[in-house]
Amino acid sequence: MRSKRFEALAARPVKKDGFVKEWPEVGLIAMNNPGDPAPSIKVENGVIVELDGRSRDEFDMLDTFIANYGIRTEKAEEYMALDSLEIARKLCDINVPRAEVVDITTSITPAKLTEVLGKMTVLEMMMAQTKMRSRLMPSNQCHVTNVKDNMVQIAADAAEAAIRGFDEMETTVGVARYAPFNALAIMIGSNVGRPGILTQCAVEEATELDLGMRGYTAYAETISVYGTEDVFMDGDDTPWSKAFLASCYASRGLKMRFTSGTGAEVQMGYAEGKSMLYLEARCLYVTKGAGVQGSQNGSVSCVGVPAGVPGGIRAILAENLMAACLDLECASSNDQTFTHSDLRRVARSLMQMVPGTDYICSGYSSTPNYDNMFAGSNWDAEDFDDWNVIQRDLKIDGGLQPVDEETVVTARAKAARTMQVLFKELGLTEITDEEVEAATYANGSQDMPDRDVVADLKAADELLKRGATAVDFIKALERGGMRDVAQSVFNIQLQKCAGDYLHTASLLSENWEVISAVNYMNDYTGPQTGYIISDERWKEIQDIPWADDPETI
Ligand code: 5AD
Ligand code: CA
Repeated sequence: MRSKRFEALAARPVKKDGFVKEWPEVGLIAMNNPGDPAPSIKVENGVIVELDGRSRDEFDMLDTFIANYGIRTEKAEEYMALDSLEIARKLCDINVPRAEVVDITTSITPAKLTEVLGKMTVLEMMMAQTKMRSRLMPSNQCHVTNVKDNMVQIAADAAEAAIRGFDEMETTVGVARYAPFNALAIMIGSNVGRPGILTQCAVEEATELDLGMRGYTAYAETISVYGTEDVFMDGDDTPWSKAFLASCYASRGLKMRFTSGTGAEVQMGYAEGKSMLYLEARCLYVTKGAGVQGSQNGSVSCVGVPAGVPGGIRAILAENLMAACLDLECASSNDQTFTHSDLRRVARSLMQMVPGTDYICSGYSSTPNYDNMFAGSNWDAEDFDDWNVIQRDLKIDGGLQPVDEETVVTARAKAARTMQVLFKELGLTEITDEEVEAATYANGSQDMPDRDVVADLKAADELLKRGATAVDFIKALERGGMRDVAQSVFNIQLQKCAGDYLHTASLLSENWEVISAVNYMNDYTGPQTGYIISDERWKEIQDIPWADDPETI
């Protein structure tokens, strides 16, 4: 006979998830691996000659890059001599200001920082995250994609997402050649919803840079780095090649961050018997060494790996915190499906949602799951109201707010109409009234008519071939009578000349103010300091349209 209790438990969604026991020898362990190197440093004449147990002649290319560029050497030996437990205590102690901790954590080695975080519970790390986040106020990023690569729907969804609160938006493609249209659609749509939204299109690296230089995008984030030499080599890359790519973005005034995360190396079979967190530390030190302002990390697309081992979700919080410790912007993942359990996906997200990170999701799917071309997010459009209610329940700012249907429908309609006008002015493929109407009311691409894909792809190729840039879009929008949208696209290009939004953790307000960790530093030192939800913002968060009015019940 079988226990009916056990039968009921066996049928629970969480039982469909994959779990595995630790195997430290191959690196199938989240953190606290006895196989991780013991922290050490030796500095001679300002040069690091020993790093985490290896002398310079034993360095691999990551060690060399990190030793040359990733660690501040002035006080390195002094801070390395501190007990790791003492540094851990400073991290979560409200009486120790962020700047004091950053002075230490940017002067110690990857193995040391890994050891420090290994001494902390998730609660202590969440306290530390509140203090260490670089920008004063948290924010959120979303995905805007669909299975059909329908650019009218992308524009409408982006407009809605802007009204719902996202400051950054990311698209990608089903069919690679759609990239110019998708990039254009997310930039136009989002800025119809709210001026100042930064947008990107995640595609192959050379294409992505090209789109940025032409002004189709405002930032990039899927520039991957890895924690071992073998995984780097597998992608025909080195820390130097990635640093070069980063410089290319900077040279055109484009914001960018690197991506890395626990689990990538062991998934590729090259983890060198090290913990996932230690290897992620190496990624973040490479990011820092390359002079890049921030990181998208938190396992990201590899989340199934740490999520399958004990303490994996703790390690994901640790890696986000580690990015903040290195004074980097952190876009903290929460962007890929990893579980069948609704309880588990919320528990995982609370680690970033409660303390707040620079971008809590990177991103949140602003479409139904079936339209998410990043393999499905941990959160999607059908969870909007759950997210809003969790913010309201806990009085936390997760970057979103409830919206009313009419505002959303109006913005979606304008975004779709703007695409129609823009495509006409640019002499691209036709966008019909029927499509504009469908995009206005759609939930997903199942509600959209099919397009002539062959004609679209030809037009997209031709758009690039004729050398069309943001300047052409601005002129076309102006000609088509969409002056306000033209102005937004112009202002975004202007930002690239000014360069202020290259500062750490930037976003743009709807009045075109650059908000970053430079002019809005996180100054948290305990209750009633740091980011405090204003009365106005609290009203926005709590105002769910479906709440009853006690006077009318
Ligand atoms: N390590 C490195 N890069 C990653 N990406 C996602 N997860 C990781 C990770 N753990 C990058 C890849 C992918 C994009 C969505 O983000 O480049 O294509
Ligand atoms: Ca992302």
